[in-house]
Amino acid sequence: MKGEIRRRVLEQRKMMSPKEVNEKSKKIQEKLFRTSYYQTSRTIMTYVDFQNEVETRSIIKRALNEGKNIVVPLCGPNFSLLPVKIDSFDDLEKGTRGILEPTKKHDIVDVKKLDIVLVPGITFDRSGHRLGYGLAYYDRFLTQLSPSTIIIALAYSFQLVQTLPFEDHDQKMNLIITENEMIHC
Ligand SMILES: Nc1ncnc2c1ncn2[C@@H]1O[C@H](COP(=O)(O)OP(=O)(O)O)[C@@H](O)[C@H]1O
Ligand SMILES: [Mg+2]
Repeated sequence: MKGEIRRRVLEQRKMMSPKEVNEKSKKIQEKLFRTSYYQTSRTIMTYVDFQNEVETRSIIKRALNEGKNIVVPLCGPNFSLLPVKIDSFDDLEKGTRGILEPTKKHDIVDVKKLDIVLVPGITFDRSGHRLGYGLAYYDRFLTQLSPSTIIIALAYSFQLVQTLPFEDHDQKMNLIITENEMIHC
């Protein structure tokens, strides 16, 4: 069930043109920048986009310019994610599955200090359920957060469905931002 939905939506995402990815990503970013969550945040953890995920490089750039702390996930053992602080794009290199990851492994930050976590995903529903790539990296990671951390999914509107199958271990989003709407879950 989960597998079939993943394949269908990934196929659709693969067919997006670079222009479409960029235009929709810009709209999503602008919505994020206008939230008080973003404006009041000190420390933001974000994925670095790959394979037509909603782009995050402009978010990283802007947040660093504004003096915010930027934290990027590094894949660790047993499908864990380590939150590593970066100071520039020079602190990233291609790692697991060709995704850009932090190089300064010593700069791991306290997960409780994260104000926002920007989460990628394949599909989301309006209750905040998420389908990832099927390795549950984020399910494991998000359980460690402070209750005050805001979990925000960035997604194109075609990645939204009415309801998704979910299991007990699946962690929920607080907010989903698409190019068309903001969904508070
Ligand atoms: N906290 C956890 N510890 C161990 N295994 C887990 C944990 N969370 C999920 N899993 C396992 O990981 C697999 C994939 O989970 P799933 O939620 O389908 O992936 P994703 O969230 O990436 O879409 C499942 O078989 C699940 O049992
Ligand atoms: Mg899951």
